[in-house]
Amino acid sequence: MRHPFLVSDRIYLRRLEKEDIEGNYFQWLNDQNVTKWMRHGIFPNSYESMKAFYENQAISKTDVVFAIVFKEQDRHIGNIGLHSINYVFRSAEIGIIIGETDCWGKGYATEAISLLSHHCFKRLNLNRLAAGAVDKNIGSIRAFEKAGFSREGVARQAYFCEGQYHDCVNLSLLYSEWLAGKKVGV
Ligand SMILES: CC(C)(COP(=O)(O)OP(=O)(O)OC[C@H]1O[C@@H](n2cnc3c(N)ncnc32)[C@H](O)[C@@H]1OP(=O)(O)O)[C@@H](O)C(=O)NCCC(=O)NCCS
Repeated sequence: MRHPFLVSDRIYLRRLEKEDIEGNYFQWLNDQNVTKWMRHGIFPNSYESMKAFYENQAISKTDVVFAIVFKEQDRHIGNIGLHSINYVFRSAEIGIIIGETDCWGKGYATEAISLLSHHCFKRLNLNRLAAGAVDKNIGSIRAFEKAGFSREGVARQAYFCEGQYHDCVNLSLLYSEWLAGKKVGV
């Protein structure tokens, strides 16, 4: 493991590093299959935009991005980000991408969300975690639900993907719910 920060059964999370931009990560954001239900994939990816994104989050107090690494091969398979951290409201948003498509459907997203949620509630002292996914993004909605999140509403026609407008399903997990045992995995 290289610079592990949070560790679970099969994966670990470490802070995103500059070198990651040189790896497969660059192409994840060009892959129309990966970005189908995301805000990415509208313009081609560029090193300049990735570098700016990396540099902003590296010094930000409100956004932090972690690499999701498959322990066994020390392989960078995706990213999970904590965004819009609000230290007064004690809330934040989680975004996730498993960019290596051969790793889909193996529970890695669920494991990463559970691992990060644990850290948010037990160390960062947050009270509310939120996430959003296009209504057709069953894998994403399901991963958040398996990690204990509940649906709380939709943002109507918030995305335009695959030739039509789609609602964004909003999900959240409160500390009280997590504590009551809705958490899985870790
Ligand atoms: C969506 C995404 C994060 C899911 O990651 P993952 O590691 O495949 O998710 P998990 O394996 O933890 O799956 C969670 C559940 O969803 C199911 N699932 C995963 N992908 C699915 C799909 N495409 N269709 C239906 N169900 C799916 C899994 O089977 C599992 O349910 P189960 O345990 O009841 O069988 C991943 O596919 C991805 O990164 N996609 C591209 C980027 C993206 O859409 N990010 C999210 C933006 S909100």
